[in-house]
Amino acid sequence: MAAGIDDIAIYIPRLFIDAADFAKARGLDPEKLQKGLGVSQMAIVDTNQDPACLAANACLQIMQKNKLSPEDIGRLYVSTESSFDESKAMNSYVIGMLEQVYGQGAFEHCGGVETKFACVSGSYALYDNTNWIRAGEAEGKQALVVVSDIAKYDLGSSGEMTQGAGAVVMLLNDEPRLLAFDPKVTATSIKDEYDFYRPFGKETPIVHGQYSNLLYMIQVRKALEIYKKKALSSGLMKLEPGETILDHMDYLNMHLPYSNMGKKALAYLIRHEWRQLPRWKKLIQDMGMLEPVPKDPRGTIESVLGDEEFMAKDHEFTKLFTKTKEFQEVYESKLASSLIASKMIGNLYTASLYLGFRSCLEFEYQKGIDLNGKRVGFGSYGSGSSAMVFSGLIQPQYEEVVKNMNLEAELAPRRKLTLQEYEILHENKLSPEEPMLNTKREFILVDVNTTTESRGERRYIFNE
Ligand code: HMG
Repeated sequence: MAAGIDDIAIYIPRLFIDAADFAKARGLDPEKLQKGLGVSQMAIVDTNQDPACLAANACLQIMQKNKLSPEDIGRLYVSTESSFDESKAMNSYVIGMLEQVYGQGAFEHCGGVETKFACVSGSYALYDNTNWIRAGEAEGKQALVVVSDIAKYDLGSSGEMTQGAGAVVMLLNDEPRLLAFDPKVTATSIKDEYDFYRPFGKETPIVHGQYSNLLYMIQVRKALEIYKKKALSSGLMKLEPGETILDHMDYLNMHLPYSNMGKKALAYLIRHEWRQLPRWKKLIQDMGMLEPVPKDPRGTIESVLGDEEFMAKDHEFTKLFTKTKEFQEVYESKLASSLIASKMIGNLYTASLYLGFRSCLEFEYQKGIDLNGKRVGFGSYGSGSSAMVFSGLIQPQYEEVVKNMNLEAELAPRRKLTLQEYEILHENKLSPEEPMLNTKREFILVDVNTTTESRGERRYIFNE
């Protein structure tokens, strides 16, 4: 049975900070953000928004757009790493908000949980719900998987350049108009790591930035190896001599903590995949530089990062490689469109990969390309750490959905924050009753209870 993504909707907060203003305030070269990381703007939540509001706003949008009633929805999963309760799932809050519009008890029949594994948990939720449909358990109902996060780092930290916020919701069913997942090829890798984590009670994560970059690439490569074995053994793909698995993917969507991480990961994966192929020998000749090898090729991530000579040479090699026409061709045709939204919005943690997918669809369609039957490969990564690689085929009815996508229009009207306003919001100096914007027809947070007996209870309204 086919199963996959029928439609996708996004909710992005209307406030943002501009990368150039941010760089100026932090004494950084704006080029580091814009060119080095690929960050132009970062979406910031208002005082009356939390990840549950973002998720509920995205869900309402997809339901209204598709004229869905709560009866049509059998499962609602929320994936987040910005959770504010150790026990109560974010689903309850989202259902509570939606029932303000659809009526109390309207979603009573609907199951679902909050899933957590840093940025990768949305991919696990998609996989589980796809299998719920494939197993014939859905009984004509559809699933909503919503990924919602606020990427917030300490003021003055290097992670502060890679913030953002927003939610993406995907409607899954057995006649998906956008993408049907390839069966029996989903591959995972997992390892106990401390590249990025957020201990209980801490609002911002503890991050080992360069370590996390390298770990992301290693874990995705490991999952890709498993994907490759499955794709070949299941007969999904057949490699002719000199081919790689990546040649059989028309698009690659990567987890995007910042847009250039997608490019970095693509270069890493291609190097790994092409290394054994005749085309690599030719490329190395044309580049005039041998691929560097660390002093201890079997060493740890720390030993590789600590090998300064290797790191400098590898950086030089990567720069040279990413300028070759061979890399540029793959980059432009398979990845570049997925990065556009990320540059304008920033990191959405769980939602970043799927914002990238949406961006890929919209901007490839705008090029006039027929997307029917194109294979999309996904490289999902979550710190701590786990990666997931999977793929799907764009479906014949995709145009019905994609022709109406307009990121610019959906983001508007946005308001640019001054650095002073941003810092006030960042340090939580204002209450939900003191928002920067007065939005209409959206779910907003009105109160978080501080009394001993009901501490943490949240109240939301639909702002008519
Ligand atoms: P940094 O270490 O300060 O930056 O912070 P850098 O020195 O690596 O520079 C970044 C890029 O800008 C480099 O490009 C520089 O060369 C370039 P590259 O060489 O890598 O291509 N650059 C410039 N370019 C033009 N003009 C200039 C200039 N200066 C430098 N003047 C870091 C970067 C990402 C480490 C930091 O922002 C950070 O810690 N971010 C948070 C962690 C993160 O995003 N990690 C990504 C991988 S882990 C992950 O994705 C999981 C995550 O989403 C969490 C989850 O799973 O839940 C984070």
